Amino acid sequence: MSLPEVPLSDIDLSDPEFWTRPREQRFGAFRTLRNEDPFRFFPERTFENSPIPPGPGYRALVRHDDIWHVSRHPQLFCSGKGSNIGDLPVEINEFFGSMINMDDPKHFRLRSIVSRGFTPKEITALEESVRVRSASVIDRMFERFPGRECDFVREVAALMPLQIICDMMGIPESDEEMIFNWTNTILGVGDPEYVGSFEDLVRVGGEIFSYALALGEDRLKNPKDDIASVMMNAVVDGERLTAQEFGSFFILLVVAGNETTRTAIAHGMRELTLHRDQREIWFNDFEAHTKTAVEEIVRYATPVIHFRRTATADTEINGQPIAKGEKVVMFYQSGNRDERVFDNPDTFDVRRPAVPAQVGFGAGGPHFCLGANLARREIAVMFDEIRRRVPNLEITSEPAYLQSAFINGIKRMQCAW
Ligand code: HEM
Repeated sequence: MSLPEVPLSDIDLSDPEFWTRPREQRFGAFRTLRNEDPFRFFPERTFENSPIPPGPGYRALVRHDDIWHVSRHPQLFCSGKGSNIGDLPVEINEFFGSMINMDDPKHFRLRSIVSRGFTPKEITALEESVRVRSASVIDRMFERFPGRECDFVREVAALMPLQIICDMMGIPESDEEMIFNWTNTILGVGDPEYVGSFEDLVRVGGEIFSYALALGEDRLKNPKDDIASVMMNAVVDGERLTAQEFGSFFILLVVAGNETTRTAIAHGMRELTLHRDQREIWFNDFEAHTKTAVEEIVRYATPVIHFRRTATADTEINGQPIAKGEKVVMFYQSGNRDERVFDNPDTFDVRRPAVPAQVGFGAGGPHFCLGANLARREIAVMFDEIRRRVPNLEITSEPAYLQSAFINGIKRMQCAW
């Protein structure tokens, strides 16, 4: 991918228009920021019809090193004031974002309890599910599309991650479609196709929460063989999850574990279509290259574009003074293309060395993606299934991108085989 020159004066990360520009334009803009103004301040705007007034603005962190520093100094850069750019009351942040919007010790307590659902034992049990679900996604595609073409995002990339979350939570298949639509609404904020108004967002949040509340209470009384039951019944240092905490964690999980993995698989398939040589390298010696190929897909796609932190004291980042209370927004999408760290960062290379690490799952620290190993597994198994059963599958249309400053999503994209 060759990038255009984008002057600083043409970059406003708070302008929704910026996030509708072609990818090359955006990556060109981030390169300009990295080289010319790596701590640039942007005033905030608010999204249409939102009752929330715009906040004081933020500094955009666009270099890999700075994202690394902030992620690993949670005492200086907290999450408790919100991990998205806009300011919401703490209760609303915790309601929608659960532990991603908390600091230790509250965060540590919650993470210790829900981590019971992500132990090697639980993940091993899920692996079988990942294999079975991936196979059934391909079976279903064969059955439903004898003409050998369909929407890759809806029929392949989106299905398996959704089903895995549902399997984890013991959610019946009949409810999967409803969960799918809920997550689209939450993460589609800003894209008119998904969210009509702020009220829609609040309504959907309430619906997911009530659903989860009922699920959590049920598993407390009638434990089943699912991770929801493990979490609801786990006792860590004498503490257990309340149904409310489970409800909020559930919102985080269905959102965090769904659209992200879908986005990685969709971008991955597109890059493997555009770069036949890379596909051949990986698919011809699958086991040997899976580790680096999966990491490269996540780096290249960077499904989560940013998360925010807030300075808890006057400090500095790489010589740049940061005042107490200032917001810093870590643009993972830019850190993952930082030429200071990655050779030819705009080249898709399935053999790219694993070190230096890409920051698509975060850059370490207490909030590092809890589902990273599960997501890696899902991506690897889905592509293994494609390689073995539909080796000629190709993307045949341009992607319809999600209009979002937060998720680098693809809504639709045709494939054929
Ligand atoms: C390719 C797929 C995924 C990507 C790119 C991704 C990315 C991220 C990122 C960037 C963070 C924040 C890291 C930080 O602030 O330091 C995060 C946190 C989180 N992710 Fe993921 N994620 C993915 C898949 C998943 C899956 C499959 C699950 C669960 C089933 C999951 C659950 C979580 C949770 C619970 C957190 C919050 C952790 C905390 O605050 O302590 N993610 N993820």
